[in-house]
Amino acid sequence: MHLIGLLLVLSLTLVAGIAVLKLRSALNARVDSSIEENPHRLGSNRKQKSKPQQKTLKGTPKTRFSSLLGRLQERTHCVAVLWCHTEQVTCFAFHPKKRCLLSCSSDRSVRVWWDPVDKQAKFSSVNLFTCAASQHNVKFPDFAEACCWSKDGQFVLFALSHTHAIRSYDVLENQKILSGSLDVVSVQKGNVKDIEMDPHCRYFVTYDDGSSFIVWNMRGNILATVDTHQVQNNRMAISPDGRFIASAGFIGDVYLWEVLFQKDSGEFVGLKKVIDLKGHRAGVRGVAFSHDNKKVATVCKDKTIRIWNIDVKYKLEEDAKLLFSLEPWDIHVDLLQVAFNPNDNLLAVAGNDSVAIYLLETRQIVTILRNCTGQGGVDIEKFGFSGDGTLLATLGHGQGWISLWHIPYMPGFSKV
Ligand SMILES: *[C@@H]1O[C@H](CO)[C@@H](O)[C@H](O)[C@H]1NC(C)=O
Ligand SMILES: *[C@@H]1O[C@H](CO)[C@@H](O)[C@H](O)[C@H]1NC(C)=O
Repeated sequence: MHLIGLLLVLSLTLVAGIAVLKLRSALNARVDSSIEENPHRLGSNRKQKSKPQQKTLKGTPKTRFSSLLGRLQERTHCVAVLWCHTEQVTCFAFHPKKRCLLSCSSDRSVRVWWDPVDKQAKFSSVNLFTCAASQHNVKFPDFAEACCWSKDGQFVLFALSHTHAIRSYDVLENQKILSGSLDVVSVQKGNVKDIEMDPHCRYFVTYDDGSSFIVWNMRGNILATVDTHQVQNNRMAISPDGRFIASAGFIGDVYLWEVLFQKDSGEFVGLKKVIDLKGHRAGVRGVAFSHDNKKVATVCKDKTIRIWNIDVKYKLEEDAKLLFSLEPWDIHVDLLQVAFNPNDNLLAVAGNDSVAIYLLETRQIVTILRNCTGQGGVDIEKFGFSGDGTLLATLGHGQGWISLWHIPYMPGFSKV
């Protein structure tokens, strides 16, 4: 009897022991998988986990998404800060195809960074605007408050602050910017908020804080002055095919103006308001066209982000449709600007001092770049993707430097 009792006790402890061991390993497995799921923990053992970069992503949208998510979180980081000027940076613009960056400052300098993430970042620097504008006999120094590139990257346009002059300059690699052909004085009373150029170089657009914008031809003649009736201009954009100008302002409606040219002669005919994007309940701060000309993204003071389909038969009075809305990452964030990456698969939204990057196919946030300006309470003034889509540049309000963020290459997705 004693022997049987002893055996029973022994086998019971054995079973209990095995159970405890099993439970332990199960617990360990749980801990491991929670590490897998937590992206912040992932960061710490990034080295062991990093796999050779894959060229294409296969699988269902969900697995592709998690693969992308991993890559973005591992590889999106600040790659460079360009301490480029002695005073505040007033504007910058990326070359339409390359990484090359143009920056201007109230210290009157203009710099062209041929590859801004190159360790020995080379730039061409000129104090363009100290020289007198011969035609207009301007003697005092000036600086650019807005700039943009021509689509072929051959020349740049500047809107100057004091003199209100608009000038073009040719850009030749590894040389100083040479004087260009255009030199006119704007009739706008207010400071030029931004300047945008038609990709086909038929016209360019300037606008100030008021409610109107000016369309110029490349010789500097005014083609049209348009009152948008939007109380105040917040932002304007030209579609990549040059067909539409979008205007976003104090009122919630965003207007698309078709720029009409004579088919044969190419002569300017006029502007026509053809599409009205209705739905926002407050001022729209940011507007951007997708590179395939089919979508428009808007961000609004009412804390909504909307994607619209503008590929409609507007001539037959078909309205543009709201495709979907995206949730902001923080309900207290003030949305400021929006941009599509060159492949149209990522959407970057700037709000306060952060930039959230959404994957459009799944409509999820893949990463949030926080503290982009490096100073609490300083909002992002300007941001944009490089022409090749590998960089995102951010500039804080009143700051004298530009931060550059690495954006991993995104393989093409099926269109959303
Ligand atoms: C963003 O800025 C606004 C106004 O400057 C402020 O009221 C708000 O709290 C800020 N939001 C966040 C998330 O910091
Ligand atoms: C933001 O960045 C700056 C500079 O990198 C740093 O000094 C500061 O502590 C950061 N602030 C926050 C809230 O992370």
